[in-house]
Amino acid sequence: MNDSIPLLIDTDPGVDDALALLMAFNSPRHRLLGLCITAGNVGLDHTVANALKLCEVAGVSVPVYAGCDRPLVFAAEDASYVHGRDGFGDIGYAPAHLQPETEHAALAILRESHAHAGQLLLVTLGPLTNLALAVRLDPSLPSRIGRLVVMGGAVTGKGNTSIAAEFNIAFDPEAAAIVFESFPDIEVVDWEAVLRHGFLHSRFEGWLAAGSPRADFYDRISRKTRLWAEGKRGDHWHSADALAMLAALYPEYVIEKKRHFLHVETAGSQSRGATVVDWLERSGRTAQTEIVLKLDQARFEALIQDALGVPV
Ligand code: RIB
Repeated sequence: MNDSIPLLIDTDPGVDDALALLMAFNSPRHRLLGLCITAGNVGLDHTVANALKLCEVAGVSVPVYAGCDRPLVFAAEDASYVHGRDGFGDIGYAPAHLQPETEHAALAILRESHAHAGQLLLVTLGPLTNLALAVRLDPSLPSRIGRLVVMGGAVTGKGNTSIAAEFNIAFDPEAAAIVFESFPDIEVVDWEAVLRHGFLHSRFEGWLAAGSPRADFYDRISRKTRLWAEGKRGDHWHSADALAMLAALYPEYVIEKKRHFLHVETAGSQSRGATVVDWLERSGRTAQTEIVLKLDQARFEALIQDALGVPV
């Protein structure tokens, strides 16, 4: 009996998605069932191509499922200003020889939820469009998910894409609202937690010198983003999806978390996409969200080094 944990990742690669995926590829305790791809950081054609290329570079053979190419209701701006027009630093890599599956990502989520009912670890690293579509197709989906870990939100309103909103939620607030109204138990790693768990650019550059194919490729695709981040945020780099993947793969490295009700705001000129947390339990609503506040930084950095093939 294979006692590894079945893992399914929904992602919009993206530079920090790629680091998170390398961490997942490296995990000895999980069985990666596939990658479900959404638009977000950049358009779906690029996010699918990037997922296929990363699998090829890492020598990983997993199905890649293309999903939604736009938000459920309203169009949204991508994050190409952070990740490059193609989402992988515009280095002009040779396309992978791999092809995506023909099954839609939302249908793959439903199928794998039945195949691994109650055991599936589902991690979302991008907008929640695919997951929202899946739960609209089959409202019983949440009952079959073992754990749902979401990178998204800004739990005290310190956004990164608007005053109050974080990118993954703000790109498709209607989808996020559906997910947070449908799932009874969501582990959230938000943008504010990400800012508390940065690492020095100088240290990261040392890890990228590991000389492994993964490190070399990641050095190239992340350079544009790291330079942008250095100019914007100073000497520490923040990899949002990698932090969420740490919480997902190794929950024992979560040091502090708090359970509260979380509402996704879909209206308002300044509040659309905000993740409003009922910190003082005023709403009377059932808390559905475990908000991850602190993780083991040393373990975080060690796992990133492992993922890049840095010799210990
Ligand atoms: O706000 C950070 C999130 O937005 C990350 O998932 C990053 O990849 C971008 O999509």
